[in-house]
Amino acid sequence: MKFYIKKFVLEKEQTDCIIIGIFESHDLLGSADHLNKCSNNYIGNLIKSGDIAGKIGETLLLYNVPNIVSKRILLVGCGKINSLNRFYLRKIVKSAMQVINKNSIKNIIFSIGEIGTKEFSTYWFFRIIIRSIKEFLYDFCLINNIFKNSINLNSIFFNLDNLQDFDIANISLKHALAIDDGIIASRQLSNLPPNVCNPLYLSLQAKKLSEKYKDNINFSLIDIKKMNSLGMNAYVAVSQGSKNKPYMSILKYFGNKKNNKVIVLIGKGLTFDSGGISIKPAKNMHEMKYDMCGASAVYGTLIAAAKLNLPLTIIGVLAGCENMVGGNSFRPGDVLTTMSGKTVEVLNTDAEGRLVLCDVLKYVERFSPHFVIDIATLTGACVVALGNNVSGLFSNNEDLFRELKKASEQTDDKIWRLPLFKEYEKELHSNIADLSNIGTGKAGAITAAYFLSKFSKKYNWAHLDIAGTAWSSNPKKGATGRPVELLSQFLLNQSEYNF
Ligand code: BES
Ligand code: MN
Ligand code: ZN
Repeated sequence: MKFYIKKFVLEKEQTDCIIIGIFESHDLLGSADHLNKCSNNYIGNLIKSGDIAGKIGETLLLYNVPNIVSKRILLVGCGKINSLNRFYLRKIVKSAMQVINKNSIKNIIFSIGEIGTKEFSTYWFFRIIIRSIKEFLYDFCLINNIFKNSINLNSIFFNLDNLQDFDIANISLKHALAIDDGIIASRQLSNLPPNVCNPLYLSLQAKKLSEKYKDNINFSLIDIKKMNSLGMNAYVAVSQGSKNKPYMSILKYFGNKKNNKVIVLIGKGLTFDSGGISIKPAKNMHEMKYDMCGASAVYGTLIAAAKLNLPLTIIGVLAGCENMVGGNSFRPGDVLTTMSGKTVEVLNTDAEGRLVLCDVLKYVERFSPHFVIDIATLTGACVVALGNNVSGLFSNNEDLFRELKKASEQTDDKIWRLPLFKEYEKELHSNIADLSNIGTGKAGAITAAYFLSKFSKKYNWAHLDIAGTAWSSNPKKGATGRPVELLSQFLLNQSEYNF
């Protein structure tokens, strides 16, 4: 399936379906007005007779419209004039796609440019529409469990009236497709079962990526031997109970500009988290295959970065590990000496993400990074605090916070900042080590982040807790690909694309 942007003489176009927008006010604008005139007020009369009111997402499929060569015209309700927003736009596109898909329509022309001219720049109008189409197609395949040959679509054209916008519309298309590729790659990796996607598998995917983009991406691997010699004892301790050894993959992406500030992205990659000796309840334990969604988000973001050819230096770290129960497992009560030299008393082996990440946060100091962002399905408490639509954000730097907030608002990949006040420090007090690995009870998302902040003092750092947003549970089980769009947009903004 391919996307094209073109200026059409709509009434003469031999296609399967033209999609146009209808408003509640019954005013016909732009291409809707044009096709209505060509068809001697055919569309206007239908609206007048009440066949479609124009409410957001309402649809009416027309065949054999007089004087129109296209087989069909799909009217889609766009609500009130000048009241379009991102949410409505997605709904409009989704409704249209449902009709297209249900009727096995192969070639379509979206001609809805006029509905958003006031509310959106051309760039964001296209970005949102294309992402929504892609999202619909992926969800459809996921729900129906068929990834091939399910969608009949051949081509999706966009009618662009104003040829001045042609370049920007194509840039938007390119960005949307690159980011979507990253999102899909991330989702596919996350959705794999944990007996397939183990730490070694994760590292092999990272390696493959570097082979695919060999001019831009370089791969290196830290295995358990190297971890031991580096003193990454907390990371190794978490992996101890599993026969699957830990692997930390490092993907270095070099854009075409020299002397760049280094941006490090660290993904928690617990390919399965049983909780270890502090074992989790059985009920939803299978969902802990998604405990590597941070790593898969980094993976997907690097794909987007490579496809976008961003002029940046990005280091992605996939911290692969498995937290299992066994005779070799680390124990509650163990005291671990982390790579930083700080000692940690393990009071709960299920608070393993921070143990893995604290050593990675120390490790990445060697890159003298400008920004470090870790992405982790870190705490159930974050889900309690923010729910399933908003990721938790923590940061020790206002610039980095602002940049992430901006990217979040642009993409609707929502985040909300939680505090790291000094008052939380005592929660992590231990009388036999420098730190305990859990807090004393409340504010679990914050105490986990506070723990990480102890290991990330040497650079500008942010932590995204994606425990609530990385995947959906029943009935539409599956990874969401979040926050790949947020991170990709953050990187695009760092590249000084300004739209
Ligand atoms: N991976 C989990 C966090 C998690 C739990 C994400 C449920 C999504 C849904 C993490 O390793 C964990 O187990 N955290 C514990 C920490 C606690 C022991 C302090 C938690 O949140 O219960
Ligand atoms: Mn855990
Ligand atoms: Zn975990």
